[in-house]
Amino acid sequence: MQVIRKIDKMKQEIEKIRGKKKTIGFVPTMGYLHDGHVKLIREARNSSDKVVVSIFVNPTQFGPQEDYERYPRDEKRDLRICKNEKVDYVFIPTAKDMYPDDFETYVELSKTPNHLCGLSRPGHFKGVATVLVKLFNIVNPHISFFGLKDFQQTVVVQKLVKDLNIGTKIKTVETVRDKDGLALSSRNSYLSDEERIKALSIPRSLIIAKKEIENGETDAEKIKNKMKKSLEENGVKVDYVEIVDRNTLDELKEVRIPCAVAVAGFVGKTRLIDNIIFEKKGKILNLPKIKMEV
Ligand code: PAJ
Repeated sequence: MQVIRKIDKMKQEIEKIRGKKKTIGFVPTMGYLHDGHVKLIREARNSSDKVVVSIFVNPTQFGPQEDYERYPRDEKRDLRICKNEKVDYVFIPTAKDMYPDDFETYVELSKTPNHLCGLSRPGHFKGVATVLVKLFNIVNPHISFFGLKDFQQTVVVQKLVKDLNIGTKIKTVETVRDKDGLALSSRNSYLSDEERIKALSIPRSLIIAKKEIENGETDAEKIKNKMKKSLEENGVKVDYVEIVDRNTLDELKEVRIPCAVAVAGFVGKTRLIDNIIFEKKGKILNLPKIKMEV
């Protein structure tokens, strides 16, 4: 496994791989790797000759009041995980190299960010889109892997590569959860034991939605209110609870498939997100497997 910190060096290695007609699978991350990231890496390993993982806490996707400075970092551990997973290259650029002082070009989508997390995190998807275009240009992957945990991000990246004719395929991977149902996230490390228990009401609220929809409830407002009530009673400060069209992210008044039920909430200072996706009749993605009485 090679650890590469320089953009030019990464590009040179990619040219060599491409020269040998090998395929490149790419997993962009912000590090502090967990089993969700590992699932993406394994998918990449299974489908590509060479696997590149990037670790870069991207400053442009954090708002001024957000957790860029305190975002968890543990490079040694990340490298150990990558090595275990037989990653070929770990690309760890510096913020200075990615965004030199004279940097001025950003990539912005005009519609997809006007929903869900994009509303509560202005500029977030501009930062995500910009860094991904840069990373795609450097790594030039055949396939790139993204988790459906960040549902809106997958919609953004799919639009981005289509609109800008970027030559990577995008593969999405279902959310990996802890045994108790909580979606794995690097930010879970912020939670105290007490907060973690509160956080469990997030996957539980998604089960409430699933049961309502399966029982034939189509009034989105009613379902969202039940979810909000349960979240608030359990100590989660709701940022949003939405039921949206799976492709456009437009808010639905009347539930119809394909749609996604998405939640964002604060547990203490920590903002957590989660979702389930009704892909087609009988196919729900990201579903927490927890038993509960509703
Ligand atoms: P990060 O939060 O590190 O996530 C990297 C990738 O792992 C994303 O595609 C994310 O959706 C996926 N992921 C996170 N938690 C997961 C889980 N529990 N199950 C499955 N996949 C999961 O997302 C980012 O970084 C950044 O925005 C990035 C795309 C790297 C751009 O900076």
